Amino acid sequence: MSLVTWETYWDGQHGQQSSAVGRWLFRLREQRVGVAYARVAMRYAPQRGRVLEAGCGSAVGSLWLAKLRHDEIVALDIFLRALEVVRDRAQVHQVKVGLVRGDLRGLPFPDKTFDLCWNSGTLEHFYHDDVIALIREMRRVSKVALGIVPAQHPIWSWPLKIARWMGPKVESLVLEGGYYRLYREREFRVLFEEAGFDRVESMTMWSAGFPFVVAAGFEVAPRPQAPATRHVAGTAARG
Ligand SMILES: C[S@@+](CC[C@H](N)C(=O)[O-])C[C@H]1O[C@@H](n2cnc3c(N)ncnc32)[C@H](O)[C@@H]1O
Repeated sequence: MSLVTWETYWDGQHGQQSSAVGRWLFRLREQRVGVAYARVAMRYAPQRGRVLEAGCGSAVGSLWLAKLRHDEIVALDIFLRALEVVRDRAQVHQVKVGLVRGDLRGLPFPDKTFDLCWNSGTLEHFYHDDVIALIREMRRVSKVALGIVPAQHPIWSWPLKIARWMGPKVESLVLEGGYYRLYREREFRVLFEEAGFDRVESMTMWSAGFPFVVAAGFEVAPRPQAPATRHVAGTAARG
């Protein structure tokens, strides 16, 4: 994924630099697609659970989770510009969201901090080996990891054709970050299996007339842990 493209991507959709097309895309993202994402995430996290959206962009799905269920949300992105968008929209929707600038490749949280770690429209921008490492990192910090990406389907080709026809500025708004790939449900599910989960579920959903694939990984068996340090009368003992 081209990080430079992401730095300017949110300017095109939100704020003073945005274009009319960008603002329209943002409204669609927030009002239609974000709610659909949130409804998927609800299946995998307990109400009022601790939820991390890692590679959050505008975090519209998480904002809806907070709004509909009062979940405790942390939104993480590598770019401040994305976090500014989240802060702005959280104010508009009057919800509380923790903002963390960080990298999906090394999430700044201890093991199993969250009930759910998820993202939408993020994992399709990474190459195969990188994406496995990211899902493993999501697995480390949470009980359930969830990804939502665009499905491989011919219907995605027409927005790209129209955007290309409208010129590079509009095309960059639709292409998001440069590299991307569309997944079949089975292919996306296998990534979560390769990342080492005990159980993986997948499904295909539609939102705003477009198909997305969803995969979620769960750990059924407790992982062997390093021996805990127990404190006994002021001394530390293994046990
Ligand atoms: C398409 S956006 C996510 C869209 C989001 N679901 C929404 O609806 O707005 C992908 C985000 O991943 C972020 N990102 C890319 N590489 C990252 C990394 N290594 N660590 C954290 N975030 C990253 C980008 O900055 C971008 O904001």
